[in-house]
Amino acid sequence: MQIYSNILETIGNTPIVKLNKITAHIPATICVKVEYGNPGNSIKDRMALKMVEDAEKDGRLKPGGTIIECTSGNTGMGLAIVACVKGYKCIFTSTDKQSPEKFDILRAMGAEVIVCPTAVESADPRSYYSVAERLSKEIPNSVWMNQYDNLSNRQAHYESTGPEIWRQTDGKITHFVTGIGTGGTITGTTKFLKEQNPAIKSYGIDTFGSILKQFHETGTFNPAEIHSYITEGIGEDIIPKNYDFSLIDFVEKVTDKEAALMQRRLAKEEGLFLGNSAGSAVQGVLQIHEKFPFTKDDLVIIATHDHGSRYIGKFFNDKWMKEKGFID
Ligand SMILES: Cc1ncc(COP(=O)(O)O)c(C=O)c1O
Repeated sequence: MQIYSNILETIGNTPIVKLNKITAHIPATICVKVEYGNPGNSIKDRMALKMVEDAEKDGRLKPGGTIIECTSGNTGMGLAIVACVKGYKCIFTSTDKQSPEKFDILRAMGAEVIVCPTAVESADPRSYYSVAERLSKEIPNSVWMNQYDNLSNRQAHYESTGPEIWRQTDGKITHFVTGIGTGGTITGTTKFLKEQNPAIKSYGIDTFGSILKQFHETGTFNPAEIHSYITEGIGEDIIPKNYDFSLIDFVEKVTDKEAALMQRRLAKEEGLFLGNSAGSAVQGVLQIHEKFPFTKDDLVIIATHDHGSRYIGKFFNDKWMKEKGFID
């Protein structure tokens, strides 16, 4: 019999699928790792489980405790699933630019969600970082997971995403590409892959309004780069501790509009109903090909983060897309 003892055992082992139409003009084999097959429909289940397990191991999280996190939804969903199975409470802080469906899903899993303003600096007491930190100090027996600086995040990808891609490609991967936010996915996965084969290139996909690309290239934090943007899940106005920028070969920025249009093309042309940052990542690969052309022997793996259902009210809604000027 193939019966899992609980839903957490089904995290990982997601498929890698070749893109056929969108990348037809590129001689390389370009594939996406489809992470929506995880039980929380996102790659974040991997690091959510690892962050909880590590907090249990070192005594920060005790039975009946409360998990607090600032999350755009996916990490929250992963944490909520882990909390259900293991018997913890969850409080999440998020920002008012996120798709409302994401909050409803978290509430459906028993979590409390506090929506904070997007248009404030991270150090502002109203920001979703600050509110999470304050609650963790006020609520007894609670832990702020802090996916930005908690190194269990990148370790999860070093232990699961990286080895899985290596195994699934028989070690033939030449390029790894993914959207970058906390930096956990790119840093952990790339570290493992480059340990196997240092020639593998790692490309991060960022968005306009974020400081990550400039920080990677110059090592300086330029607040002038920061402005609000529509793309969800990638880009930062802080430098999370999960980054090891030395592992990343190049960072490409994709506009909100091009990410949104590519997210729609992935659904219609490839049958891949993916999240918004997958649109950024695939568009980023097309742009990178113009700068550093891929060749026929290249095997490019794009780690995508989540499922399209979380974006029904926005990127898959014609009225919303027209309002934003993304379609006529
Ligand atoms: C939809 C989505 N895409 C991309 C990312 C970026 O991944 P990472 O935080 O591992 O850099 C996130 C992280 O929250 C996300 O939720």
